[in-house]
Amino acid sequence: SAPKVKFNNGLEIPAIGLGTWQSKLGEVASAVEYAIKEAGYRHIDCAWVYGNEKEVGEGIRASGVPRSDIFITSKLWGTYHTRVEECLDETLANLGTDYLDLYLIHWPVPLNPKGNHAVFPTLPDEYTNRLITVPDGKRDVAREWDLKDTWKQMEAVLKKGKVKSIGVSNFSEVKLEEILPTAEIIPAVNQLELHVYNPQHKLISYLKSKGVIPQAYSPLGSTNSPLLTDETVVQVATRHALQPADILLGYLLAKGIVVLPKSVTPPRVASNYTGSIAALEKLDASDIKTLDGLAAGGKQKRFITPPWPVDLGFENWPKL
Ligand code: A2P
Repeated sequence: SAPKVKFNNGLEIPAIGLGTWQSKLGEVASAVEYAIKEAGYRHIDCAWVYGNEKEVGEGIRASGVPRSDIFITSKLWGTYHTRVEECLDETLANLGTDYLDLYLIHWPVPLNPKGNHAVFPTLPDEYTNRLITVPDGKRDVAREWDLKDTWKQMEAVLKKGKVKSIGVSNFSEVKLEEILPTAEIIPAVNQLELHVYNPQHKLISYLKSKGVIPQAYSPLGSTNSPLLTDETVVQVATRHALQPADILLGYLLAKGIVVLPKSVTPPRVASNYTGSIAALEKLDASDIKTLDGLAAGGKQKRFITPPWPVDLGFENWPKL
């Protein structure tokens, strides 16, 4: 079975989870059911904004595996930073469960609560955090919403027992430093775009120093990925008689990073699980060093860069 990774709170997460972003209605339920029942997955990564949590829940129940044996993550959308429990309750109702194993702040970007919830909004007025105003104590003025207040609400739903662990996603070191000084609970994870072309070595070692586990989304390079045909990746795969996808995932697992490959194609769902474990066993120090050098050697690339109007503090993020 898959390796597990331990959080700073003592709880464990299966190191391989099924991603569900861009998994379409009509195909995601059966992919989730297959992943759990046939392919051995015990970890599903979801989000309110993916719009498919109802079907994900159906897939989980159809697998016949008890809820308590499955690790479920979901994420708070930006329009809900001022009302965390409301978003969480919607997710719980959609998934058909009464708790989550892990709940994350999806992006460090509070959006206008009256906004349109769009993933990549086009109307600045509807998404800039500068429009989120809250009464500032006794003074009758407005101020920007503060991420540390979102984190307070994340801590509150944890204390209530609705989620077992809390964490963040898409947080640079700068953004983490906005919440850590006042945090009672250190985030269990930071979920990031991580793969051989965007390894974020510096951020990963910072997270390690803080006891925050990195999780990799788009570990295969998302859709139409050039990673799967990268000459070096293919060479390493051929040498170990594995698939490129296996190498990409095994490389991250070897660094203690939790991987969240997305697929709705049963043979891929299956091979991403078994193949990444095989790669973890086969990759040696020189393979890791070779793969570590790809980004620095000129192949650095991010695939997921929504045009947020605030500086997230990431390296290699396109200029606003
Ligand atoms: P599909 O869901 O149609 O099978 P990432 O996890 O990096 O976001 O990558 C997801 C993309 O990679 C999806 O388009 C998915 O397609 C595809 N994919 C997932 N697993 C594999 C694999 N083992 N080989 C090739 N493509 C894959």
